[in-house]
Amino acid sequence: MAAIDYSEKIPNNVNLAEDRTLQRALEQWQPNYLEWWKDMGPDGSQDFDVYLRTAVSVDPQGWAQFGHVKMPDYRWGIFLNPAEKGRKIHFGDHKGEDAWADVPGEYRANLRRIIVTQGDTEPASVEQQRHLGLTAPSQYDLRNLFQVNVEEGRHLWAMVYLLHKYFGRDGREEGEALLERRSGNQDNPRILEAFNEKTPDWLSFFMFTYFTDRDGKFQLCALAESSFDPLARTTKFMLTEEAHHMFVGESGVSRVIQRTCQSMNELKTDDPAKLRAAGVIDLPTLQRYLNFHFSVTIDLFGADESSNAATFYSTGLKGRYEEGKRQDDHQLRGQTYRVLGVQNGQLVEREVPMLNALNEVLRDDYIRDSVAGVERWNKVIEKAGIPFRLKTPHKAFHRNIGALKGVKVAPTGQVVSEAEWQANVGQWLPTDTDRAFVASLMGRVVEPGKFANWIAPPVMGINRQPVDFEYVRFA
Ligand SMILES: [Fe+2]
Ligand SMILES: [Fe+2]
Repeated sequence: MAAIDYSEKIPNNVNLAEDRTLQRALEQWQPNYLEWWKDMGPDGSQDFDVYLRTAVSVDPQGWAQFGHVKMPDYRWGIFLNPAEKGRKIHFGDHKGEDAWADVPGEYRANLRRIIVTQGDTEPASVEQQRHLGLTAPSQYDLRNLFQVNVEEGRHLWAMVYLLHKYFGRDGREEGEALLERRSGNQDNPRILEAFNEKTPDWLSFFMFTYFTDRDGKFQLCALAESSFDPLARTTKFMLTEEAHHMFVGESGVSRVIQRTCQSMNELKTDDPAKLRAAGVIDLPTLQRYLNFHFSVTIDLFGADESSNAATFYSTGLKGRYEEGKRQDDHQLRGQTYRVLGVQNGQLVEREVPMLNALNEVLRDDYIRDSVAGVERWNKVIEKAGIPFRLKTPHKAFHRNIGALKGVKVAPTGQVVSEAEWQANVGQWLPTDTDRAFVASLMGRVVEPGKFANWIAPPVMGINRQPVDFEYVRFA
């Protein structure tokens, strides 16, 4: 195998060329990564020239360089945000001590687990989205899908770098395992449930990038507080890319709404059957997709009470969202937090030790952030003069982890019987008919500047290019 010129092939700011051990480890991993990309990356896209953003450094000029590139030749780089001189640990039992440049032996297993769990989500979403290119609603959207995909690939590189650099042989084995698990596979699935769900159509993709990439944002924000400095610095840089993924989701759903509202006004109807006949996605169907993606995603934060969450915080591995901006003692001993449980068929709040409730704290921060974007979607509906409003469901709705698992709760937050659930679930979650209808709209539109009927064009193109720019050149 030819030697890799790291500064060229793998843009980086971690002195790759000077670390022989790491270089050898990555040299062995890279061909396996490319094999994985060929097998599980975007279907049938190997020869396309795609207008992609590549990071070649972390500064403002370098982190977003645009140009046409074939995806297998994408330069997946490794970047850490610049070190903060004299950075101190700012929460947990070690508060006030120097941040760690290396992994403390006693926290090795937990840190490895945190990095592997984060790393596993990155290739998982690429696998979930691999067929979407075949039904892209436009070149612009196709390009955005591929941008998200290559950056999730880069996020995998970021985590594998940490595993190789700081975890020796164990880390190399984890690096291989990250390429072996497969989203939705019976025998060797991805670690977290939402990353084993299918992303079968573009509405699901936009909901996924709005809701589930936002989970990514919150996890990365919590890890950006970590006492393990290389983890903090690499996740900080990942966050700059994550913003685009959520933009793809928010603007995607927004454009679907815009198109639907336009059709509602033209046809003067809110009848889903008539709107479906006109080839647009009715708002109640959008609401059901929203309910699904929201509920599946908030499960990702884990059980509402968790001794692991307490340990990760107290030992300084994982902080809270915006830890540095909070006005408390950053140790949280003796403090409490309210979590939901069920008593005599009713949802009740109970106070539990805050440290054990940190998954719930992060989930609540996430929910506040998600709701804000849904309100921006509602502005589009309001502007069209239509009385319908989208709503995030109650956080107890359709949950599959923690105290709320197994309780049937309506989107309004009312506990319901199994029979009531069965009678209404078709109004709350996407039905097979809904999914078949959405699937029926998915056709491939790839002429520059053309858009599928069910979605409005964006207001502007990528990187100040026109909307009808040739974002993808097909071989
Ligand atoms: Fe990611
Ligand atoms: Fe992402």
